[in-house]
Amino acid sequence: MAYIDWQDDFSVNVKEIDEQHKMLIEMINSLHEAMLANKARDLQKQTVNRMADYAIKHFALEEKYMMQFGFAGHHKHKAEHDQFTAKARDLKDRMQKTGFVLTLEILNFLRDWLRNHILKVDKEYSSHFTRSGLR
Ligand SMILES: [Fe+2]
Repeated sequence: MAYIDWQDDFSVNVKEIDEQHKMLIEMINSLHEAMLANKARDLQKQTVNRMADYAIKHFALEEKYMMQFGFAGHHKHKAEHDQFTAKARDLKDRMQKTGFVLTLEILNFLRDWLRNHILKVDKEYSSHFTRSGLR
């Protein structure tokens, strides 16, 4: 059983963005599964690299649409994205320097991101985007 299952009410009603949010849930589930199997060390580096990659591609997409459709909360929203990006960089640095980061720190950060950003802050642009014609 997955740690977190995608639910329809997670959707922001824009397919491309939902697909990327599903990727983040997949990252959480893979890392959680590896942690339970005591194999998280192998996956930590990969997860942090995926987070950095996700931050670049996914945030660029959301920010492009926010700009394109004149979404009023753009700057506040981008500030949260920047925090995620900084966290991914911090995890990467610490892993390179000390070779040690707690899996739970990564897992909790991603889970909180899902709860507080994807399920709250991202929802705020949903109706604005769909009214602008995005699907
Ligand atoms: Fe976002």
